[in-house]
Parts: sequence; C-alpha cells; structure tokens
Amino acid sequence: MIFYFSGCGNSRFIAESIAQELQEQLVFIPEAKRENRFEYTLAEGERVGFVFPIYSWQPPHLVLEFVRKLKFAKTPEYVWMAVTCGDNGGVAEKVFADHLAKIGVQLRADYCFQMPNTYVNMAGMSTDKPQKAKRKIEKAKAHLPEVIANITERKSVTEMRRGIFPRFKTNVIGKGFYKWVSDEPFRSTDACISCGKCVSVCPLQNITLEGGRPKWHGHCTNCDACFHHCPKNAIQFGKASVGKGQYYFGKV
Ligand SMILES: Cc1cc2nc3c(=O)[nH]c(=O)nc-3n(C[C@H](O)[C@H](O)[C@H](O)COP(=O)(O)O)c2cc1C
Ligand code: SF4
Ligand code: SF4
Repeated sequence: MIFYFSGCGNSRFIAESIAQELQEQLVFIPEAKRENRFEYTLAEGERVGFVFPIYSWQPPHLVLEFVRKLKFAKTPEYVWMAVTCGDNGGVAEKVFADHLAKIGVQLRADYCFQMPNTYVNMAGMSTDKPQKAKRKIEKAKAHLPEVIANITERKSVTEMRRGIFPRFKTNVIGKGFYKWVSDEPFRSTDACISCGKCVSVCPLQNITLEGGRPKWHGHCTNCDACFHHCPKNAIQFGKASVGKGQYYFGKV
C-alpha cells in the first residue's frame, strides 16, 4: 500500500510508477482524510510506503496530520518513504520517522528524488528553466529502478538530500513556515476565462468559482497547483509569483 500526496504531479508520478511496478494499492492522502479513512488492514507481510513533496524542509503538515490518526490492524514490517524536492529536504525523514514512531511504526528506508521546483510564493523562489527541469525528471526516472529494487528487497536505506544547515532548516525554518502558509494573497487577474481548472486541480478542494472567478476558502497548503495549471497564468500569489513561470509534471 502506498499513501501519497502531490500538488503538481511530481510525487504522484513517483508514487504511481512504484505502485505500478510493485502492484501496490494507492491511497491519496487528502481524499482519505476527507473520507475519514484512517484504519487499514494489510495483507500478510505487505509493505507500506509514503510518497510526498518536501515543504520547507519538512513533510507537508497535512501528511503528518494523517499519520497521527493512522491505524493498522497489524504493525507493518517494512515501511518506506520517498520524497520529491526541488533541492533538498534537510532532516525531513527524521520528522517523519518520529511521527511514525508515535503510532508504533518504524521507518526503514527513505528515498529521495530531486524534481522540478514548484514553489513560487516567495522572492527568490522560482521554477526551474525547462532544460534543468527536464534533466531532473530524466535523472529521477533513471533512479526509479534502483529504488524499486531496494523496496522489493526491503533494504534499509537513507537517501535524503540534506543541503547545508539541515537541522536548522527543518527544525527552525520548517516549523515556522506553517505560520506563514495562507491563501489570502492569491488573486485572479482579468485574464481569467472561468475555465474551472484551478477548482479541479486543487487537492484540498479549497477553490470554488464565484461570479466566474476563483475564490479561495482558507484551507490551503500552498502547493501552488492552482497557480501552475491556470491556462491563462491568471493566478498570482501577491506580487511574489509574478513572472515566475508555470510547471506541473507532464507540462515539460
Ligand atoms: C510549499 C512548498 C515548499 C517547498 N519547500 C521545498 C524545500 O524546502 N526544499 C526543496 O528542495 N523543495 C521545496 N519545494 C519544492 C517541492 O518539494 C518540489 O517541487 C516537489 O517535487 C513538488 O512535488 P509535487 O509536484 O508532488 O507537488 C517546495 C514546494 C512547495 C510548494
Ligand atoms: S484556471 Fe485560471 S482561467 Fe481557469 S478559472 Fe482558474 S483562474 Fe480562471
Ligand atoms: S488553493 Fe491552490 S495552492 Fe492552495 S491547496 Fe489548492 S491548489 Fe494548492
């Protein structure tokens, strides 16, 4: 079984690729949360995986909230996680392992895929140039068979790309980040054609169209899927996202 979260498709691609190869069932975390599906019965010896993007050197907090409520009929023996990140993830796997430990589950392996960056809500943070994005995707695809083999053999592996000052980034900046996450700065411009794409791509069902324009409802995780998928680039996050370029998996 693989539990996953993805805003812009990078992590979905990794989760689906592994699931297809290993014949694993996929569970989309926001959907499971909405439907209060927190209790799972596994087949004998079944592996459990978690796939998600790195948000501010941490697992996305909606993933951690899900894990806190998760219950297995029998404790799984081999539990792995795989992250996608634009650059690096600090010590995010330790945060995740701590959360799993609190529900009596041991994390055995963490895998890491560098993928195109999706975060555009801050000065200095931008999408990758198309060539760089393409290179990252090619490298990630080439890394998949090794990860799949390691999961199959139930290896203990740690692959997290740490970057500099990893503990500071995860434990200080990462913790503080969520105080700053908000959809208040999102707005649509007059280029909006009322197509509803932003509504359908939001993993948290946080957007409705009102008078033909998107309205955000205050339970956003800043995944930026709405920004990146708008066919008219009509969504901006204050001034921070202006001119940053759009990306989602499959677009490049
Ligand atoms: C809110 C947010 C925070 C992010 N923080 C980080 C980060 O700390 N380090 C990093 O390398 N990438 C960071 N990224 C980039 C994503 O981890 C990366 O692009 C990921 O592959 C996106 O996955 P998705 O397409 O499945 O949503 C961030 C992206 C978002 C939207
Ligand atoms: S995706 Fe863009 S064009 Fe379509 S409704 Fe949303 S803001 Fe308007
Ligand atoms: S409103 Fe936009 S940024 Fe927020 S969760 Fe939905 S798609 Fe992601």
